[in-house]
Amino acid sequence: MTDKNRVLIFDTTLRDGEQSPGATMTHDEKLEIAQMLDEMGVDIIEAGFPIASDGDFEAVSDIAKQSKNAVICGLARANYKDIDRCWEAVKHAAKPRIHTFIGTSPLHRAIPNLTKDEMAERIHDTVTHARNLCDNVQWSPMDATRTEWDYLARVVEIAIKAGATTINIPDTVGYTAPNESADLIRRLIAEVPGADDVIFATHCHNDLGMATANALAAVEGGARQIECTINGLGERAGNTALEEVVMALKVRHDIMPYTTGIDTTKIMNISRRVATVSGFAVQFNKAIVGKNAFAHESGIHQDGMLKNPENFEIMRPEDVGLKETNLVMGKHSGRAALRAKLKDLGFDLADNQLNDVFVRFKALADRKKEVFEDDLIALMRDQASGEVYDRIQVKFLRVICGTEAPQSADLTLTIDGKDHQITAQGDGPVDATFNAVKALFPHHAHLQLYQVHAVTEGTDAQATVSVRMEEDGRIVTGQSADTDTVVASAKAYVNALNRLLVRREKSDPDSDVKSVSYKDAG
Ligand code: KIV
Ligand code: ZN
Repeated sequence: MTDKNRVLIFDTTLRDGEQSPGATMTHDEKLEIAQMLDEMGVDIIEAGFPIASDGDFEAVSDIAKQSKNAVICGLARANYKDIDRCWEAVKHAAKPRIHTFIGTSPLHRAIPNLTKDEMAERIHDTVTHARNLCDNVQWSPMDATRTEWDYLARVVEIAIKAGATTINIPDTVGYTAPNESADLIRRLIAEVPGADDVIFATHCHNDLGMATANALAAVEGGARQIECTINGLGERAGNTALEEVVMALKVRHDIMPYTTGIDTTKIMNISRRVATVSGFAVQFNKAIVGKNAFAHESGIHQDGMLKNPENFEIMRPEDVGLKETNLVMGKHSGRAALRAKLKDLGFDLADNQLNDVFVRFKALADRKKEVFEDDLIALMRDQASGEVYDRIQVKFLRVICGTEAPQSADLTLTIDGKDHQITAQGDGPVDATFNAVKALFPHHAHLQLYQVHAVTEGTDAQATVSVRMEEDGRIVTGQSADTDTVVASAKAYVNALNRLLVRREKSDPDSDVKSVSYKDAG
């Protein structure tokens, strides 16, 4: 890389983002997101953790095969078996990368129970092993920001000598602050022998809400790779949000003169797509991609905006791919108009998919006078949730509710192609419906979250319902949209159950690396 102010964007939506409890994506969804990331100009895509499961391995391999421009990276713990499996998956890419890591802070060193010297030796051996397989190796000292300075400098030097080409400095628990983040990178570059020959990366978590600020500060300190996810998706409070760092560098180029290769007009579409497939809705006031990010409702703001948009806007909606129009569609709109509108919103559909969506669009337009962009996005989200995981389907639902208890639900579910019917009671129509689902499909998953949002205004608005359920440590989310809130609730619940069935079949990561030598190959 010749331009010293060029910052590489490393997207880990499909790895660190997908690791977020309940954010599991299907194989096809991962491939689609990877393609969108590649097309928007992401430099490195961390496609998954190949040893975690056969599904992860297949996803990373297939993303590697389809990749056009981006480097495709896979994650591996510090043992030969992980690294070999990672290489088997990423080697299909034109530009593969192995990313290997180990926790170096005192707390993390205690987990494999290694002394400092033993860990240093392991880092040397595993980075060397990775480098013998692949020219492009990234190494991360997990929990770097809570690692003693002397030890961090020592192991970074070892990794560089062993052949790492990128050194990533993770703030794994979102503990650092901007000044410290900049100083740490600056000091590593100044004091570690060989630091000038590698790229330093910053990987921040958002536990204190400082991930974006910490990542940008690290760039000031000399980092030239930012690790981030779309919508800031990720465990706990998430990762640095790609759209935030990219737009901050663009809008405040005057004080942060760094560039990225991102086509920012593709931000909105990929944000919506990630929200849809991950089941993690974007909060309305989220910077850059939230529904309200460019909405000006107060009278003073509206007046100022009409006089000159720059009064209240530091970037234009179209810079992030937000179209000015919120074209209304109705029951007379045709297939071509629907296709064009969906394409605008980032959904490029094959003919058979369009036919299905068109039928659902017509049904919605019959119930709702005007169909807005947000309705279409909700419709697509619903389509995605009902399409892939369909062992259980809602066939019929009628509820009795009102001031007189008991409320009851008469429900028919199709389970593995066979219809099952029951009437159940509950404390309100949603409770009665969920009880009916549970009676027809017994399970011990418990409901952690039940959320309802109105997609647009008006009493005929669609409701989107999200549910999160947990069973034996597996967390899944389900969602659905309908003009009938109880129907949307039933479908969201069933969607989560279908995802749970898929998760039950997925194997867990081979977590026991302590019992085997880290040099055992896969
Ligand atoms: O947060 C973290 O430390 C990570 C590492 C695996 C890089 O995600
Ligand atoms: Zn992380």
